Amino acid sequence: MPAEFLVRTVTGLEDLTAAEITEAGHRVVDVTKRQLVVEAAGPVTTRLADDLFAVRAVVPDPGRTRAGLRQAVARLTADLAPDGPVGVTASFTGSRNFSRFDVEDAVGARLGAPYFSRRHGIAPPPGTPDLRVTLDGKAMWLGARPHPVPLHRRAWRRATVVGSLHPPVAAAMARLADIRPGQVVFDPCCGAGTLLVEARIQVPGAHYHGADLDPAAIRAARLNDPAIAWRTRPDGPDRVLANPPWGVRLPGDAVPSREWPEAGRLVAILGPEQRLDRRWTTVAEYTLTVAGRHPRIVVALIGK
Ligand SMILES: C[S@@+](CC[C@H](N)C(=O)[O-])C[C@H]1O[C@@H](n2cnc3c(N)ncnc32)[C@H](O)[C@@H]1O
Repeated sequence: MPAEFLVRTVTGLEDLTAAEITEAGHRVVDVTKRQLVVEAAGPVTTRLADDLFAVRAVVPDPGRTRAGLRQAVARLTADLAPDGPVGVTASFTGSRNFSRFDVEDAVGARLGAPYFSRRHGIAPPPGTPDLRVTLDGKAMWLGARPHPVPLHRRAWRRATVVGSLHPPVAAAMARLADIRPGQVVFDPCCGAGTLLVEARIQVPGAHYHGADLDPAAIRAARLNDPAIAWRTRPDGPDRVLANPPWGVRLPGDAVPSREWPEAGRLVAILGPEQRLDRRWTTVAEYTLTVAGRHPRIVVALIGK
């Protein structure tokens, strides 16, 4: 039997993450909101996923009621005996007559190990192994993270700026940019550099340049990857990757891209009010949910 994993994603990146994982030789057997179920052909490495959990148990989704939840949790945890303290994080799709904390505490109470509830906003002590429970409308899953920290936490990240991108979102944008070795890639408002750092990890053989009007952003970017040509603007880049500020509400016709150079392909993440200037024709768009907001990743080409 191939090992089964739950791959958690940002809302809106499910299909792109499934494509990344399929290309790596694994089998994606189900896709629901924020989650893929994957039969792994070997170790799963993904830069687009938020996190990944080895499946420990699965039972049918109990539906809405608390009584159903109690019965499902009893079956889900029947064979589990953690050998030390644990935390439990739960999430579900759809409307239920219980909260995520009810799910977490029901699982935690059955484990026979010291359990740290998150109900009152206190996180378990650092290093406590976390069990993940998800209810996706079809099944109730229980998984364990095979690595110590969430996948979205990047070892390279030493500094951030206000509005720094979630690294899996940057990785998805880099993938959509379809960068080839030898190409010149430019980020005109690089902040702490997340887009180019993630792009360079995917395609180390391209040339990366980043600019920002804030010197503090350039300092942060240098800390994150000293090998990139920060504070430079190349002539005629092949690709532009951009994350303009969308914290400020711009008028509907605001054009953050006016000052960016033309390139073979532009991948930008824009706030709901933002549009690219007329030079660009959008060829693909992905609406995400990140921290309660709904930006769009826009892939665009020059011309009609
Ligand atoms: C949302 S942040 C970029 C965050 C970056 N992607 C990261 O992950 O850290 C937007 C950046 O655009 C910069 N910026 C705003 N207006 C600019 C302009 N006209 N030219 C260049 N940079 C600009 C800001 O200083 C800020 O660092």
